[in-house]
Formats: sequence, structure tokens, C-alpha cells
Amino acid sequence: MFYDAIENRHGLPHDPLKALVAPRPIGWISTVSNAGICNLAPYSFFNAVGEKPGYVVFGSAGIKDSLHNIAENGEFVCSLATWDLRHHMNMSSAAVPHGVDEFPLAGLTATASILVKPPRVKESPVALECRHFQTIALPGAGRYKQSYNLVIGRIVGIYIDDRFISDGLVDTAAMKPIARLGYMDYAVVTAETMFTITRPEVDVDGQVVPGSVTG
Ligand SMILES: Cc1cc2nc3c(=O)[nH]c(=O)nc-3n(C[C@H](O)[C@H](O)[C@H](O)COP(=O)(O)O)c2cc1C
Repeated sequence: MFYDAIENRHGLPHDPLKALVAPRPIGWISTVSNAGICNLAPYSFFNAVGEKPGYVVFGSAGIKDSLHNIAENGEFVCSLATWDLRHHMNMSSAAVPHGVDEFPLAGLTATASILVKPPRVKESPVALECRHFQTIALPGAGRYKQSYNLVIGRIVGIYIDDRFISDGLVDTAAMKPIARLGYMDYAVVTAETMFTITRPEVDVDGQVVPGSVTG
């Protein structure tokens, strides 16, 4: 099948886009209001988009509490959502009123970050401390008058639980990160689903030597 994505008349019972851009990492965004109330919510229109320095982005449908807080003070933290924390992560997405702290609601501990005010999720093995760079209101198109707000943040501090570092490498599979698929579906990274491919190289004769695949 093919359909015009601006018209978006795909003829399917549900919009398939999110099932097509999958898996998407989940940015578990914590912020704090100037009044001192913490906020936590998962965002799967999320990714890292650069390194040295690192940048992350996430997309918000409208101005949600996370965006309000970031507009107030320009800081946020992205904790890693993992298999062990999947129910907590889901609870933190509840549409509760502005001013409700999702940390206790989701049964999680807010622990102090090092360089920014918003706390990280203590139970999570990774946290990216970020300073706001820019928010871009993405333009609508066709019959969709509004789109998402894209928040861009520069990573200024990185917490890694030392238990997940072995032989100088982060053991991503041991952390079991979860990712969003389409509909209500998720995926999890484990040692069984991971594989390694080295980059192809161009030899002295200009021949491309394929990378090697393990797993
Ligand atoms: C796994 C998951 C991913 C989500 N991703 C997004 C997203 O990318 N953008 C968005 O606007 N809402 C997303 N949501 C919904 C928000 O988490 C939800 O609206 C939340 O209440 C927003 O919280 P806030 O108002 O405290 O920022 C997601 C929910 C879940 C469970």
C-alpha cells in the first residue's frame, strides 16, 4: 500500500506511523516547576541527535506540564526506562493535573541530579541531565492545523549506575531498556536480541570489505 501522508487517509483502523518508526527509545523526562513541584512523564518521540556535545530531542503534543516547567527554568533530565521499571513508567504517563508530582504516584524515588535542579529517577540506571537549547513549534499541514512542539536540550551531565559498566563498556543489554512500537506495543533489548556488526572498510585497492556480523 501507499498513501499520501499529508492527507493521511490510510484506510486502516489506526494511524500506522508509530508502528513504522519503531522501536523508539523512551525519554523519561523529569522537570521541576519554579514552585518546586517535580514532574515526570515518558516521551517516545525522543532521541539523541548528536554527541560531543550530546543533544536530545523530544516531541510534545501541545504544551504539557514538562514543557511548562522547561519554559520556566530551562532544565530537564531524561532517565532510562527499563523492563524492571515498565509499570512505573506507564503510571507516570497518567494525565494528572499540573501540580501533581508523578514520582510518588508512580512509586518512584526522586533523587538529586548533579548539575541541574530537576531530580532523576533513582531506580533507573541512566540519567541525562539537560539544559534547554530551543523549542520549535512544528507547523501543521493539510487538515492538521497544529503539530508537535520539538524540545531540544544539550546534555550537560550523565549519570550511569556503575553496576552496569563492565570492562570499560556499558552493558546495555543488562539494563534491559524498553522502547515504544506502534499501538500499545513495546520492545525490550536483551542479550538475546542484541547483535554486533563492524563497519565496512575500504582497503588499499579501494575495495569495500564488508563488516563482520556476530549474533
Ligand atoms: C511510552 C509512552 C510514550 C509517550 N510518548 C509521548 C510523546 O512522545 N509525546 C507526547 O506528547 N506524549 C507522549 N506520551 C504521553 C505523555 O506521557 C502524557 O501525556 C503525560 O501525561 C505528559 O505528562 P506531562 O504533562 O507531565 O508532561 C507517552 C506516553 C507513554 C506511556
